[in-house]
Amino acid sequence: MFSSFCSALSVLFIPNSSSLPLDHIHQLPQWFEEELEDDLKWSFAVNRVLHATTSEFQDIVLLDTKRFGKALLLDGKLQSAEKDEFIYHESLVHPALLLHHNPKTVFIMGGGEGSTARETLKHKSIEKVVMCDIDRDVVNFCRAHLKENQDAFQDEKLHIIFDDAKAGLEGRAEKFDVIIGDLSDPHEGGPCNHLYTKSFYEDVIKPKLSDNGIFVTQAGPAGILSHKVFSSIYNTVKHVFKYVIAYTAHVPSYADSCGWVLASDHPIRLDKEDLNNKIHERVRGELRYLDGAFIVSSTVINKTIRTLMMNETHVFTEEDARFAHGRGLVGNA
Ligand SMILES: *[C@@H]1O[C@H](CO)[C@@H](O)[C@H](O)[C@H]1NC(C)=O
Ligand SMILES: *[C@@H]1O[C@H](CO)[C@@H](O)[C@H](O)[C@H]1NC(C)=O
Repeated sequence: MFSSFCSALSVLFIPNSSSLPLDHIHQLPQWFEEELEDDLKWSFAVNRVLHATTSEFQDIVLLDTKRFGKALLLDGKLQSAEKDEFIYHESLVHPALLLHHNPKTVFIMGGGEGSTARETLKHKSIEKVVMCDIDRDVVNFCRAHLKENQDAFQDEKLHIIFDDAKAGLEGRAEKFDVIIGDLSDPHEGGPCNHLYTKSFYEDVIKPKLSDNGIFVTQAGPAGILSHKVFSSIYNTVKHVFKYVIAYTAHVPSYADSCGWVLASDHPIRLDKEDLNNKIHERVRGELRYLDGAFIVSSTVINKTIRTLMMNETHVFTEEDARFAHGRGLVGNA
């Protein structure tokens, strides 16, 4: 989801480089380096490249990193890392499902890695999950190589479609209790920009939510110096839904906080005891990161960012988008 540039690997992934023997690749990268901003880089030591392939849309790489375990990269952009992906995926999925009175059907925009489906399927009430990712090869790659998501990929409640998320939603007659945006950040020329616009929320998301339905989207970096996209998505969603909550969490492998925006036209009740009871009753197994108290506290945002967010006037449209740093390659994860 974070835009980045992998200098060590990009050398290897010029279009026709996928024919390089993997042995050759194994010896090369020592450090994975990601450009977070024009003036900021983040790098971590790599043991080896575990798997690498190129799809119609993007380069797909699984690295074994020293600090963060296995790390999935799309076009050199870190998508998630074994050691801390639970922070991002629990935060994306569980608040929305717990705040819904009885979620049975879920639509995931993106999410090809399978972790969002995995977290969703922990809810006993779930009958059907539709995951819509544009890249079949990412899904097959993750199905083959991410052991932790193998059960989710085999679950008969999971229906995978390969399409742009807008077309995927528009093409279905049914409505969903919860719609989840597990998309890459909006960036210049990026493939997901239309999935963050006011008109998309109004004309596509809202009509596809069932009564009391809840929408949640990842909303990019949420740090003091990096919250511009987050603030804009928050303000945009506020123009479309009656009740909107923003919340954040620090994700070590992103070297920043991540933000989410959750919305409904039905009042949202945030109560720590109530959430704890629901986690106990509805979720199979233990959550590692979230409990009632932390879900509530993650919605409390420090004054610096809160003031900027409350004062935000930018509305995200196709003509007037706001971008995170990035190269703008095709990919919907
Ligand atoms: C202030 O809040 C934002 C959003 O929650 C967070 O990303 C940031 O890290 C916070 N700042 C500090 C210094 O903790
Ligand atoms: C936000 O808006 C309030 C009220 O209009 C104003 O007093 C404050 O200075 C603004 N803060 C920022 C950071 O723009």
